[in-house]
Amino acid sequence: MNLFNVITLFPNLIEEWKNSGIIHQALKNNIIEINSINLRDYGIGTYKQVDDAPYGGGPGMVLMPEPLDSAINSTNVTVNVFLTPSGTQLDESMINELLEFDSINLICGRYEGFDQRILDLHSDYEVSVGKSVVSGGEVPAMYLLEALIRKIPNVLGNPESLINETFTDNKVDYPVYTRPETYKDLEVPDVLLSGNHQKINEWKKNNLKDI
Ligand SMILES: C[S@@+](CC[C@H](N)C(=O)[O-])C[C@H]1O[C@@H](n2cnc3c(N)ncnc32)[C@H](O)[C@@H]1O
Repeated sequence: MNLFNVITLFPNLIEEWKNSGIIHQALKNNIIEINSINLRDYGIGTYKQVDDAPYGGGPGMVLMPEPLDSAINSTNVTVNVFLTPSGTQLDESMINELLEFDSINLICGRYEGFDQRILDLHSDYEVSVGKSVVSGGEVPAMYLLEALIRKIPNVLGNPESLINETFTDNKVDYPVYTRPETYKDLEVPDVLLSGNHQKINEWKKNNLKDI
């Protein structure tokens, strides 16, 4: 069983996402476990404070180290992945590396991000999912988990879906078609209708593009 803890101020986003698609199936089949851990539960004082103004001034609020430290220490997981736009760009080789761990904490930032000291203390990976900034680490965490979980054995209905997939061997997948055979004067390539599996496989191979 692969265990993923998502430490977040918005656990409802993660819980809702768990209800659909392959994630839902993988949870139902007990292949994975995903826990959302509410950072607010580890907040300080009556108001469960999790953020404060930045030292030295500047806009926005910064996530304080203590609540994050407590939330991370509440788990038995030793691999901590922080979602941050300044991190290493996620790609398939990083996904394959992360697949080696059977449990991972994913830590989602908000506002101006994490107090640097929590990264200094706990970060094993700092991961960015793209060269643009979104408001929180939840969508990046879900993106990373979808990319990772679909590669866990028995998650996809047909494991062949992973073969020839875009980014495998630096190729872009061949184009795919379904019914109808003609749509708005655009035809499905004849070879795909021929039933000749050798020719079809050759066509597929020839239509993989280099990245
Ligand atoms: C508004 S962003 C903080 C941006 C930060 N002030 C900066 O300029 O790097 C809030 C949080 O969203 C998440 N986030 C935003 N963009 C991301 C990206 N491209 N990849 C991963 N996480 C991202 C991070 O967890 C981040 O702490």
